[in-house]
Amino acid sequence: MPAELKRTYGTRAATRPLLPSSPSSELTTPPPPKRKRPFTDRPTEQNTPTKKARRTLKAEPKPKAGDKSKGNSKQPKLTQLHFSLDTPTLRTCPLCDLSYTRGAPDDEALHKAHCARVQRGLEWGKEEQREAVKAGVEELQSNVKLRNGARGRVICFRPDIGGKIAAKLAVLLETIRLALSSPPLSPAVLRRSKIYLFLLAAPGLASTREKIVGCVVAQRISTAMAIARPAEVSAALSSPSSSQTQSSETLASSQSTLSSSQDSSESSVVPVTLLPVDSSTNLYVHPQPLPTPMGIPRLFVSSEHRRLGIASRLLTAAAETFILGCPLSPARGDVAFTQPTGAGKAVLEAWGKGGVRIYEEEGNI
Ligand SMILES: CC(C)(COP(=O)(O)OP(=O)(O)OC[C@H]1O[C@@H](n2cnc3c(N)ncnc32)[C@H](O)[C@@H]1OP(=O)(O)O)[C@@H](O)C(=O)NCCC(=O)NCCS
Ligand SMILES: [Zn+2]
Repeated sequence: MPAELKRTYGTRAATRPLLPSSPSSELTTPPPPKRKRPFTDRPTEQNTPTKKARRTLKAEPKPKAGDKSKGNSKQPKLTQLHFSLDTPTLRTCPLCDLSYTRGAPDDEALHKAHCARVQRGLEWGKEEQREAVKAGVEELQSNVKLRNGARGRVICFRPDIGGKIAAKLAVLLETIRLALSSPPLSPAVLRRSKIYLFLLAAPGLASTREKIVGCVVAQRISTAMAIARPAEVSAALSSPSSSQTQSSETLASSQSTLSSSQDSSESSVVPVTLLPVDSSTNLYVHPQPLPTPMGIPRLFVSSEHRRLGIASRLLTAAAETFILGCPLSPARGDVAFTQPTGAGKAVLEAWGKGGVRIYEEEGNI
């Protein structure tokens, strides 16, 4: 359960710098506090060293004069103590990136469950399906064939759905939160969102079992910023005005801005200011907020089902149906991502055909 996961787990610190909360002007403010919850925040029984009664030599009563027991007049015999090597240690799983206490049964069990969800997805059982019919969950696509031959379908619902589906959604969002080292989606963001899920059918014709293997959260937003083209970034980085800041790393970590010219020819110098989003992926944006209807604050596909087109399919379904009767086009700039991961950036470039923008999820409520 998510509440239990919160107790002892922390994922690796996000290496990505955070995008500040409001467009343009406040982008130069220092980044908000680290997303990672310090391990020491919530000590568990296993994590907290237990105090053991120590035998201190000082406490030994001094032998009194005339004490009959001769042995007491000598130094007490010291015993060699050994360090215990089987004490719990913090481990980060290479498969799901979660840090947990090895040797602590609770942590081991919670990690096992989380790791399975990250790799293989979450069960979509009969009970969820029964409720889905009553709760008005829409089936947007059925009998979808993936490139590996597997089949599935795309469903959509609002996060305030309630019942078993809401409980399942809470576990799913917590799994994504841990996998991305991101903060939880706030109720205000969720109120303006729709959830799109890819349900994969278990192999075998007769099987009715399904797994949630992909999730897109789509949020109603108002503005976002256009991503700078690579030529604009390199022009900005090599322009004289940015020469004091040697590398893109420095620029991003200081949340400074870049000045450049749109045209590298000296005759038409049009200053352009770029804002760094993530220097490790060379992602910069133009600071002007542009009207944009749909944001994607979360995007996740379980690791065993990646590169099958699931994320792209979910994004297309979201763009087509998010606003009733008004299909959105990523190429036209109707869709924005929050600060993307490396793989997220690859998807936004491949799926978005250069038109996807960047926004800050809490700054757009
Ligand atoms: C990012 C993520 C959702 C992509 O899901 P996916 O279902 O594998 O994406 P798709 O199959 O639709 O990929 C579409 C295209 O994007 C590009 N792409 C996707 N993942 C990529 C990767 N890891 N490296 C390079 N390119 C990638 C490819 O061009 C791909 O097309 P191709 O497979 O025909 O080459 C998935 O990797 C994931 O959940 N990662 C962990 C969480 C995360 O980083 N989320 C993004 C937050 S912004
Ligand atoms: Zn793991």
